[in-house]
Amino acid sequence: MEVMHGVNFDVLGRRDAAHYSGLTLTELEVRIKRFARELQMEPSFSQTNHEGEFVESLHRAAEAADALILNPGAWTHYSWAIHDALEVAGLPAVEVHLSAVDEREDWRRVSVIRDLCIGCVQGKGVDGYRDALALLKERVA
Ligand code: DQA
Repeated sequence: MEVMHGVNFDVLGRRDAAHYSGLTLTELEVRIKRFARELQMEPSFSQTNHEGEFVESLHRAAEAADALILNPGAWTHYSWAIHDALEVAGLPAVEVHLSAVDEREDWRRVSVIRDLCIGCVQGKGVDGYRDALALLKERVA
């Protein structure tokens, strides 16, 4: 299981706290690891601000992981390159957003990866990652 954070997650703690609760990426990953432990899962993590690197990680994903949790950040809304690479990965994947993207600006309501994901969790903050882990545990086990 790999948790892939996309663009601007390295500065999560500096982003709008109204949407992202002021949590840093390290704090987010600590919380995800805790959820995973409860579910006897062992996630690995990655973050990049470079779309091509995200794409190449997806190309390699099947070598190291059996499932994916993806929060590509803004790329979610327009990166057909990530869509196509996720198709190549061929792994069960869940799309997660900390904020309720469907209730924000119109452009955030579009997701180009949703059709390839077995689920989407949004607007639940960190707890959304627990839901995503549980969903994958059920589907991958
Ligand atoms: C986000 C929502 C995206 O619209 C935004 O660009 C992000 C974070 C979220 O987790 O709520 O970077 O994916």
